[in-house]
Amino acid sequence: MGLKVEAERGVGAAGPLNVEEIRKDFPILNRVINGRRLIYFDNAATTQRPIQVVSAIARFYLLHNANVHRGFHTLSQEASEMFEEAHEVLAHFINAYSWDEVILTSNTTEGINLVAYTWGLKNVGKGDEIVLTVMDHHSNMLPWRKLAELVGAKIRYVDITDDGLLRYDQLEEVVSERTKVVAFPMMSNVVGTMNDVKKIVKIAHSVDAIAVADGAQWVPHAPTDVRDLGVDFLAFSGHKMLGPTGTGVLWGRRDILEGLEPFKCGGDTIKDVTLDSVVWHDLPWRFEAGTPNIAGAIGLAEAAKYLMRLGMENVREHEKELLRHTFKRFEELGDDVVIYGPKDVEVRGGVVSFNVKGLHHHTVGKALDLFGIAVRTGGHCAHPLHYRLGIKGTVRASYYIYNTAEEIDEFVEVLKTIVRLKDRLAKEPVEDVCTGG
Ligand SMILES: Cc1ncc(COP(=O)(O)O)c(C=O)c1O
Repeated sequence: MGLKVEAERGVGAAGPLNVEEIRKDFPILNRVINGRRLIYFDNAATTQRPIQVVSAIARFYLLHNANVHRGFHTLSQEASEMFEEAHEVLAHFINAYSWDEVILTSNTTEGINLVAYTWGLKNVGKGDEIVLTVMDHHSNMLPWRKLAELVGAKIRYVDITDDGLLRYDQLEEVVSERTKVVAFPMMSNVVGTMNDVKKIVKIAHSVDAIAVADGAQWVPHAPTDVRDLGVDFLAFSGHKMLGPTGTGVLWGRRDILEGLEPFKCGGDTIKDVTLDSVVWHDLPWRFEAGTPNIAGAIGLAEAAKYLMRLGMENVREHEKELLRHTFKRFEELGDDVVIYGPKDVEVRGGVVSFNVKGLHHHTVGKALDLFGIAVRTGGHCAHPLHYRLGIKGTVRASYYIYNTAEEIDEFVEVLKTIVRLKDRLAKEPVEDVCTGG
């Protein structure tokens, strides 16, 4: 495959984001919810999709639809080409060495399970250790715990500081000759901390452990270069970066991937099968069993192109600006509101988790919805982190390319009203449902 999309990597895409123009691509942002124009601050859960992504999916279904890798007819050839090109675009998005190191998955969760059940089952044994962090999402915690249970390995956790920074000193202590895997979030979906990925990789590699990066929150929001970062595996989700739900990527180092057998077996994973033998397919098809989400892959590639045109440096700068504005405006809320995580925007992504003292997080979330503001409340699939912080849940506002300082101003004004009505709101019954388990 050629390098048709090299120019689209966004290197040199100049200047700050033109948010007014960007917003025109997202008709959903004009919706009126409870009498107010929607303020969508739930981007860490899932982002919105621009017209370009929806059109790419529609175009595929309306004009090119066929199964891939299964026919010589024109439509099948077109579909196969578009599907393969999607791998190529995504490879460029993360600066992979080659398109065939990009395995399309259904989400981050599947990517991490793939590594645990292929590389993990082959290489981790009784008495070995897997190092995780207390800030991990359940999706980067439970697959490793299951693996440990299956093979008799031990899980070791690295703590955070009270500011939500990873305890690198503890990581160095915990990692030993017994460590086979260090799995970590590049960015926390709760406290927003952006971890020092290269430092973690260096520590993992010092004992020949592999470094598995959960990029679910980082990749959509900041430049990602797998060559530079040095990780062994990187998983991320399409729906958190303008792409369709049910799409994601697992990137892996070629030399490691080539030594692995499929996670799921079936059609497309093989070169040949007899009644008693099988020859596995080349990368990445060996790991993409069955008819894939073809339209999803095409939509995800379109999303990556959209972001590359904006330039990921510019996306990151925009979110830093929104964070600075949030911290400044939140000062007006005084002691009634507690924000979790580091205040330094250089080590924090655009995720702001907080609580209003005296109010349940769900009460605050419901009240915000009455003003058209969409946030997420609960444990955010990171219960151990909340227990570490001594709380049961938080309210989380999370930003993306289409959010503005004016929206944050409106958000803070509504929060002031919520604080003012705190005593009354505290009497509202709370349905303490477990959201984000
Ligand atoms: C840090 C982190 N890891 C993993 C995931 C899981 O992503 P998905 O549900 O798309 O598999 C999420 C989702 O919120 C996340 O925030």
